[in-house]
Amino acid sequence: MEKSMKKTLISKLQVICGVVGLAFGLAATQSQAAGGHNVDLQKAPINLEDKASLQRGARLFTDYCMGCHSVNYIRYERLTTDLSIPEELVKQEFIFNDKDIFAQMRISTPAEYGKKWFGTTPPDLTLATRWRSPDWVYSYLLGFYEDSSRPYGVNNSVFPNVGMPHIMANMQASVSDEEFKSAMGDLTNFLTYTADPDKLERENIGRWILIFLAILFIPVWFLNREYWKNVH
Ligand code: HEC
Repeated sequence: MEKSMKKTLISKLQVICGVVGLAFGLAATQSQAAGGHNVDLQKAPINLEDKASLQRGARLFTDYCMGCHSVNYIRYERLTTDLSIPEELVKQEFIFNDKDIFAQMRISTPAEYGKKWFGTTPPDLTLATRWRSPDWVYSYLLGFYEDSSRPYGVNNSVFPNVGMPHIMANMQASVSDEEFKSAMGDLTNFLTYTADPDKLERENIGRWILIFLAILFIPVWFLNREYWKNVH
């Protein structure tokens, strides 16, 4: 009796330790994702099923970001398969040099130039929403503000003293707040897709597996009842 009480006590302690450990772990990753300092992040409007938003995000990314950033782990061809952008359009509007449709979405600026121009090499952004978070990237894109003490006259509330100029300044000045937020939402949505391009497909397969298991449960339940029918 005493032994079993001891056992339950130990297992309870284990659960408590686990929960506390998990809470600390989560807090640590969150503060890391926030770039080490505390800022209130805005919630990114992520919806990977919204193809139109992903298409707009891809377009904005190639127009505004690919001067400096690549998304190396994505091939142009996936814009046609995953995002349903017609192949001709991808060739005309997304690929600026003689690369073919199976090429990776690389940039032609060598890394050392980036370093020379901006002090830091602009990182590949395929996984940006994973090493930060979608909310971080969204808030970062919305977080530029004027600061004359900085080389480009701007600073960022999420990434203080950032080496990136405010690339979307003209766009921000020419559209409404809502439109700008929605465009940055599309960009973040696209970068959330690039960080895990198979997620949608995986979720779809997962749904079918759950349905399959639910159906399988019916004969299994009857079979089980049949087996145990004569056992009392
Ligand atoms: C003129 C070059 C340039 C362009 C164009 C540019 N960036 Fe940057 N970006 C940089 C540089 C340089 C850094 C690194 C800043 C640093 O570490 O101080 C950076 C950093 C970032 C980061 C933070 C990465 C991290 O986690 O440390 C994100 C996110 C980002 N850029 C997104 C974008 C998006 C989205 C666009 C297009 C709207 C864009 N950038 C356009 C130069 C650029």
